[in-house]
Amino acid sequence: MSKAGLEDVVAAKSAICDVNGTEGRLIYRGYDIHDLAQHATFEEVVYLLWYGRLPQKKELDNFVTELTANRALPLGIVEMMQNFPSGSQPMDVLRTVVSALSLYDPDSDNNNREANIRKAIRLTSQIPTIIAYWDNIRNRKNTLIPKVDLSLAGNFLYMLKGEVPDELSTKSLDVALILHADHELNASTFAARVAAATLTDMYSATVAAIGTLKGPLHGGANQEVIKLLLKIGNVAKAHAYVHHMLEEHQKIMGFGHRVYKTEDPRAHDLRLMSEQLSRHSGDMKWYDISLKIEDTVMKEKGLHANVDFYSASVYYMLGIPIDLFTPIFAISRMSGWAAHILEQLDNNRLIRPRAEYTGEKDLHYIAMAKR
Ligand SMILES: CC(C)(COP(=O)(O)OP(=O)(O)OC[C@H]1O[C@@H](n2cnc3c(N)ncnc32)[C@H](O)[C@@H]1OP(=O)(O)O)[C@@H](O)C(=O)NCCC(=O)NCCS
Repeated sequence: MSKAGLEDVVAAKSAICDVNGTEGRLIYRGYDIHDLAQHATFEEVVYLLWYGRLPQKKELDNFVTELTANRALPLGIVEMMQNFPSGSQPMDVLRTVVSALSLYDPDSDNNNREANIRKAIRLTSQIPTIIAYWDNIRNRKNTLIPKVDLSLAGNFLYMLKGEVPDELSTKSLDVALILHADHELNASTFAARVAAATLTDMYSATVAAIGTLKGPLHGGANQEVIKLLLKIGNVAKAHAYVHHMLEEHQKIMGFGHRVYKTEDPRAHDLRLMSEQLSRHSGDMKWYDISLKIEDTVMKEKGLHANVDFYSASVYYMLGIPIDLFTPIFAISRMSGWAAHILEQLDNNRLIRPRAEYTGEKDLHYIAMAKR
């Protein structure tokens, strides 16, 4: 019997990430997500995902040096981006540029582990640059040389906005990146593993993952959430608006999850962050509207908020353009995709499921004149 959407099908063994949908727990390599969000940096988490353990100080220093040294894009890539239609969607730009980057990578087709780690470092470091540069290019602003003394999160905000961000903004984005870094066999990671299992190259597997993340049922949901908050615009209208949507059987983006039957643990940390950023800005509006929507959806549908719901108000308050929300998900998830590609290749078997055939059988070819 086939399972629609492969629900509850266990399609791989993995030591990277455990999603416990009944207890609402998320673990990266043995560490609870709340513990990592509170104490780790995104760079440390990337190391953890790829190497399976937390780094020693010197290992982390070397790793960060490697990451920071690989932020720049080849000139040919920047020139190519300058020729893209200015209305191109950032996720489409990201997918195209990541594909093009393989043409400049000397390790492109080398599938040994060391070469794949080098490519994973380049991709993790260059994806933020692609996104920030695209926002600059389409707005006819100058592209900035990446700053080596800033974290990945801090440098991304710097390249995007042209000024060094404050500590709260950097920390908020850093924690959001930690929370999005991996999530077991989510759709984009599964796509990456399916591609990697054919022994194609890491760029091809990453392009498959980016294309999959773009969909509104996956990474695209955070952009839809902020559009809803903006449409509602006022906490007094929130309940009636969402009630009406539910009556009309519309989906409320940022709610529900295939695996979590209780609160998505990432939503908990992002809710706190949304509150903190609101207090800091002196305007509680987006947080208050979010709370009201959450309350309504819970009472009327029994659905919990997922990772995309509060990340929307967080990114909005960080001053990030709406169509960059999903690309930011990709900045973070690149670390998880790479971890899964490496793990797949360590013990590879082609992923090739079967379909339950429901079509016709035993038909005989009909000549064109007789159809
Ligand atoms: C995440 C998601 C795709 C999971 O899908 P799924 O496991 O296939 O669950 P279904 O879409 O079949 O939903 C099951 C039921 O809950 C309802 N439901 C699920 N998510 C809903 C939402 N966000 N708003 C309103 N109703 C929802 C469905 O309409 C369905 O109801 P029905 O049985 O009366 O038809 C789904 O919850 C969704 O589309 N959420 C919104 C998009 C989103 O936030 N994606 C990011 C995920 S991290």
